[in-house]
Amino acid sequence: MAIYVVLMGGPGAGKGTQAKKLQKQMGLPQISTGDLFRENFKNETKLGRQARPYVDSGELVPDEITLGMVGERLKRPDTEGGAIFDGFPRTIAQADALEALLAENGERVNVVPYIHVDKDLLLKRLAGRWTCPVCGRVYHDLFNPPQKPGVCDVDGAKLYQREDDTMDTQRRRIEVYFEQTAPLLDYYRGKGLLIQIDGEQSIEQVFEDLRKAIEEAR
Ligand code: AP5
Ligand code: MG
Ligand code: ZN
Repeated sequence: MAIYVVLMGGPGAGKGTQAKKLQKQMGLPQISTGDLFRENFKNETKLGRQARPYVDSGELVPDEITLGMVGERLKRPDTEGGAIFDGFPRTIAQADALEALLAENGERVNVVPYIHVDKDLLLKRLAGRWTCPVCGRVYHDLFNPPQKPGVCDVDGAKLYQREDDTMDTQRRRIEVYFEQTAPLLDYYRGKGLLIQIDGEQSIEQVFEDLRKAIEEAR
């Protein structure tokens, strides 16, 4: 049976960190709209040019652009057994659209783990983050350093800091999250799908809790 997981949580809560681990262990593809936008920047696509000003300033990219991109991604056959959505949906309109997209194939969102992390800690997480340009894995100066400083453990690529990780943009992303995305928590709670997870635990413990929540939803 296919299983579609929506990972919720503020910027820096650990969505990408956990989605990568879940992808590896459960064989479900990670669909990160943030990563997809960054891929489009790298490839200098039209969609990338349209989305860039929003991402750089920490605002949400308009639903129309985001939904077109996700619709295309879901046409790829690797999503037939399910997927882990990371950073999507971020508005009620996006959540409704996702429901309609999945319903076309008789599927639905099965579980929505909410990785809860306090606001102050979110900022600390973002401030020390380093990202791999090749595999997208994320590290942290203090909380999750790579074995060799500045280099990805898996593929040896040189790590970089995201362009939207300036202090002003980080703050704006957190504000936007509370204003525009947090209302989705009630939306999914109302559907009986939301499971809150303590995101301030170790990466391994958060993963353990997530795995259990997803297994129980299967
Ligand atoms: P996106 O790329 O999704 O960024 P975000 O939501 O701001 O979230 P982050 O990726 O910053 O955080 P994360 O939760 O993945 O944390 P991570 O695992 O890296 O979106 C970027 C932009 O794209 C948006 O601002 C918007 O413009 C646009 N966009 C994207 N989706 C959109 C949509 N659907 N609609 C409209 N616009 C959209 O972890 C953070 C750090 O903490 C790392 O350094 C990590 O090593 C560390 N860490 C993680 N877990 C732990 C732990 N348990 N203990 C200690 N350290 C930890
Ligand atoms: Mg992320
Ligand atoms: Zn890598």
